[in-house]
Amino acid sequence: MPSQPVPPATWNRPGMIPTLNDTGFMFEVRDSFTNDFISYAGQTTLPVLELGCAYGVASIPALEAGARVTASDMEPRHLEVLKDKVPPHLLGNLELVVATLPQAEFPAGRYGAILCSRVLHFLSGEDIETSVRKMAQWLAPGGRLYLVADTPYGIWRKKIPEFEAGKAAGMRWPGMMVGLHNYIAADPPPKPTEKPPFMNVLDPELLARTCTEAGLEVVEAAFIPRPDFGGFGQMDGRENAGVLAVKAG
Ligand SMILES: C[S@@+](CC[C@H](N)C(=O)[O-])C[C@H]1O[C@@H](n2cnc3c(N)ncnc32)[C@H](O)[C@@H]1O
Repeated sequence: MPSQPVPPATWNRPGMIPTLNDTGFMFEVRDSFTNDFISYAGQTTLPVLELGCAYGVASIPALEAGARVTASDMEPRHLEVLKDKVPPHLLGNLELVVATLPQAEFPAGRYGAILCSRVLHFLSGEDIETSVRKMAQWLAPGGRLYLVADTPYGIWRKKIPEFEAGKAAGMRWPGMMVGLHNYIAADPPPKPTEKPPFMNVLDPELLARTCTEAGLEVVEAAFIPRPDFGGFGQMDGRENAGVLAVKAG
């Protein structure tokens, strides 16, 4: 039976569960976009999809709210841990799918809501666009798309000058970072690592643009404060970005 992974001692903070594939952490503290997805999942009669679900931060509460849930992640070991945590009486409402964005495929028009939280910043701009266009296809008419991503204003604060200069110069994807140890606001800085090989931090405007270009109507796009992202010094309330967009009914 797979057990829950334990964070390395230096990162050992309550609610931060490390991924098994060097894609950061699942945070057990949920933001308002994720909570809205869970609440809507309990209302819609259609199934819902969580992409990059890790150990089920939203999938399990959505199941508990009465939803039929497809929980998907590129890492099969995450899905094994998730399955282990689901109360047996809810397993019949759970589908587990190993899939990697942007190659992932799901049936068109199937889902009442999709959540993709803290995953898109691992993709290039082109792959973000492909992924969000696909998500728009997977939604039923009237369906809701919830996206959450890291910004340069949280733990990646050393990226702010490049990000803002890039935006001012009209760069389409100003948040691309290669050599992540150069950008993380950790003291002392971590050793150079090649995993993940890059990150592409975003903001509400970039998320909203991507949804609009995918044919969705943006209902809300906002920064998300994450004071629980501990150990990285002073935060300013713009640590994550979120968007809620809907498909025309
Ligand atoms: C930082 S964790 C976020 C977990 C959770 N969604 C949250 O918000 O706390 C990133 C998760 O996305 C998955 N992931 C990363 N890149 C992915 C991709 N291209 N396609 C599918 N899943 C991906 C990882 O395996 C990991 O479980």
